[in-house]
Amino acid sequence: MCGITGYVGPRPGVRTVIEMLRRLEYRGYDSAGVAVAAQGGGDMRIVKAAGKLAVLESQLQDHWETHGAAIAHTRWATHGGPTTPNAHPHFSQDGKIALIHNGIIENYQELRAELITEGFVFASETDTEVMVHLVDRAFQKRGSMEAAIREALTLVTGAYSIAVCSSHELETLYCAKTASPLILGLGEGENFLASDIPAVMRYTRSVIVLEDGDFAKITPAGVTLTDLTGGAIHREPFAVTWDEQTAEKGGFPHFMLKEIHEQPRALADTLRGRLTDSERVFIPELEGFTKEQLASFSHIHIVACGTAYHAGMVAKRFFENLLRRPVEVSVASEFRYSDPLVSQQTLCFIISQSGETADTLAALREAKRLGATIVSVVNVVGSSIARESHACVYTQAGPEICVASTKAYVTQLMVLYLIGLHLAAVEERITDETHQGFVRDLVALPDAVESVIGNALLVEDLAAKLADRSVFFYLGRGYDYAVALEAALKLKEISYLHAEAYAAGELKHGPLALIEPGVIVVCLATQPAVFDKMLSNIKEVAARGGTVVGVVYENEHRLDTTADHLLRIPAVRPELSPIVSIVPMQLLAYLVAQQRGCDIDMPRNLAKSVTVE
Ligand code: F6R
Repeated sequence: MCGITGYVGPRPGVRTVIEMLRRLEYRGYDSAGVAVAAQGGGDMRIVKAAGKLAVLESQLQDHWETHGAAIAHTRWATHGGPTTPNAHPHFSQDGKIALIHNGIIENYQELRAELITEGFVFASETDTEVMVHLVDRAFQKRGSMEAAIREALTLVTGAYSIAVCSSHELETLYCAKTASPLILGLGEGENFLASDIPAVMRYTRSVIVLEDGDFAKITPAGVTLTDLTGGAIHREPFAVTWDEQTAEKGGFPHFMLKEIHEQPRALADTLRGRLTDSERVFIPELEGFTKEQLASFSHIHIVACGTAYHAGMVAKRFFENLLRRPVEVSVASEFRYSDPLVSQQTLCFIISQSGETADTLAALREAKRLGATIVSVVNVVGSSIARESHACVYTQAGPEICVASTKAYVTQLMVLYLIGLHLAAVEERITDETHQGFVRDLVALPDAVESVIGNALLVEDLAAKLADRSVFFYLGRGYDYAVALEAALKLKEISYLHAEAYAAGELKHGPLALIEPGVIVVCLATQPAVFDKMLSNIKEVAARGGTVVGVVYENEHRLDTTADHLLRIPAVRPELSPIVSIVPMQLLAYLVAQQRGCDIDMPRNLAKSVTVE
């Protein structure tokens, strides 16, 4: 999603904001731009370019060391294509005000029509540009940047964070936020703003996270915080303790591979503090949920997008088996407009790595409005979804930078297993023996994942054989079906290959027509209860010439003669196998994408955090 940076102070403004933007590159973008209110006055200097930051930098040679208050932006196209005119900053007709924006101005078409009638000329197709003309119009009347920005903000509806710099007021930046994330970095005689903390970490560790409705005036001497109407507010800065290295690749060629390798540690971290000495699960964040309260929930609804939705599919099965209640799982973008059957009797789980996904956040708000109790599973601490839930159980994956989710997914699964067990124990639905057995098996998972990663060479060999194929199917039954969906998503998003997942029993109801020599069919077969059924499906594929890649437990040999290739994983309790069986699938997707020379960490058309609808 869009990246925002800003700087006021003695460093060269342009260089500083571009260096800050580099820390946000991982979020995905398609154009970039910078504006500086150069010391000594004159008009703003604004440079923009479609494409990656390197393209912009190549056009900045004359401006690189320019001093003055500066803002910069990486854009992920929403309104208008990824062109240079549509790149931010947008600027007033006299070139004295520049503005960058993350989010959506919902009423921009009416405002644009109104401004055009008044004689304003638009240089882009974006919703953002109306905002800078509104600020300019208000400035002509009021002669104050602060008053002008405030007036403009009263006229727009939608979700935004903005930053403004102007040659009307040198050495001053303004920013405001109603939805998309925005933080301030506090320095000595200099200050920073950004859409995410990593952008400021190399300059300062003192950070203020702005809340919805905050407005900030930023000069080298300090920051003044108010609400949108001008009332003073105070936000306590906090010290960022993360190691800068945690946000870097740590020796791996890609963040994705680094993050795959981090999974055993992330899983162990996620278990930490949530198991008792007597081998039971206890989640402090859910302490308030009593047996009586849980009994009042007639059903459970899980809502999420993409990979997080696939984690929800695993949880549905696990919760239903353990809690003996209907569990529905919905894609957030469908849920929010479906007039959902949610009430005070609904326990609603919201799953999101970023905690900022616009559809998921809107679904949360809708479920809350309808009276549901909201428990979220989130990775980013302090994110909107975490803050707006009744309870939030954090995954402990650490920053996930690759657009394709890996460690966030397995830690989401881990948290969901823990939640299922915690609730089942409170409701007295499982015996101590079962509970402890699950706990022992959960504790063994980081090692099982480590051992799959240790066998990556076998997957590499397979990837080399498959990288030139163009059609992939993923089949599974039960828990394996949920993993098949996630495995197919991983392959398609980073290798741009066509990959489809099916419940294996569905094959003969249509997709079997597509199986022919050359088609790769990855068959997940880890569920003993349906293994024989799966075997029949695999034989149907083999009989039609499809290339079968079996994913089986290491002690399973019934596929040895049917499968063309086998990926073996340690045998674990079948309910927990998704955490292990997804790992060779992540590696396969990664290695195929690498063979094909794809931009793995920043796949085309995708963004890490989807904060617009
Ligand atoms: C795929 C992927 C996406 C996200 C989805 C939801 O690898 O990462 O499908 O899972 O955009 O994002 P969060 O979890 O941040 O709400």
